[in-house]
Amino acid sequence: MSQETVFDFRSDTVTRPDDAMRAAMAAAEVGDDVYGDDKTTANLEARVADMLGKAAGLFVSSGTQSNLIAILCHAARGEEFLSGRSYHTVYYEAGGAATLGGVIPCPLPVDTAGRLSAADIDKAVKPDDFHHPVTRLLCLENTVNGRIQTAAHLSDLCAAARRHKLNCHLDGARLMNAAVACNMDVSAFTAGFDSVSLCLSKGLAAPVGSVLVGDQAFISRARRLRKQLGGGMRQVGMLAAAGHHALDNNISRLHEDHQRAFTLATALRTIQNVHIDMDTVETNMVYVDMPEDRKAGLRSYLAEKGLLISPAKNTFRLVTHKDIPEHAIERFADSLASYMRNH
Ligand SMILES: Cc1ncc(COP(=O)(O)O)c(C=O)c1O
Repeated sequence: MSQETVFDFRSDTVTRPDDAMRAAMAAAEVGDDVYGDDKTTANLEARVADMLGKAAGLFVSSGTQSNLIAILCHAARGEEFLSGRSYHTVYYEAGGAATLGGVIPCPLPVDTAGRLSAADIDKAVKPDDFHHPVTRLLCLENTVNGRIQTAAHLSDLCAAARRHKLNCHLDGARLMNAAVACNMDVSAFTAGFDSVSLCLSKGLAAPVGSVLVGDQAFISRARRLRKQLGGGMRQVGMLAAAGHHALDNNISRLHEDHQRAFTLATALRTIQNVHIDMDTVETNMVYVDMPEDRKAGLRSYLAEKGLLISPAKNTFRLVTHKDIPEHAIERFADSLASYMRNH
């Protein structure tokens, strides 16, 4: 099956740069960014900082590197950060902050909508006692499994953190999905945070890169840490150009991904023995439940029809993105319906 006829629902990280993005990359003005000579990258950093209401930005290789740099900037060896038990910084970053920086994660409960509570933050902050690590930082996430963390809720959690003099970082890997879904300026979500990480390589469909933003002093420290981690890059304007192209073209189309996720969920929930909680479909992710004993051959069945899904766990996730057109939604719904009829 050719690339064009395979539709990959595993994640929004799988998008491929289209011809226009590749052309923008090829035409990029570049220089050595470690010397500060790459204008395309400097412009992207300033552009994202401005969008997110912060003074300065730093282009980094990935969301994981961005979060790691932020945590190590905010907290020292032997200090801890509070974050959701299932959030990326705690569960999916290979313990980088603890391994490389000695900064300890303190995982907090997350409710079904992906939220932390201010009461749990209050409880988790350690008293000033030499037996405990010093609690230094709160790390939040938006969206969480496709669920929007509202600006008001984030602001309440940041206020709780401030009462304990914590710094606040936002992992905004899919922050633009939240802003577009709420039809709000993205800076409304970032106001309470010292630092924010925005991924360009998720729904915004660039091949590589995230931008970490904060005040000037924070970004100066972050630049040194990026260097220590081996993340200083040279003629990186070619990648930054993809980022500019993504901001120019792919924010305004995110609502299509959200609409397709909703259409997909609406179609799938009419299939017998397939369960979807429509309240959970807020942006570009759909979580599908079906009986355990019906899943065994599902993945390979769908793969034969040119539809890729992640290994079917109890609940499995489908993600819509730039490379999932309307007819892929129909193909998916028809294929799952025929699988359920025959298995
Ligand atoms: C919420 C969240 N944060 C951070 C990341 C890390 O991004 P990267 O894969 O670029 O390291 C991801 C990756 O999917 C993510 O889902």
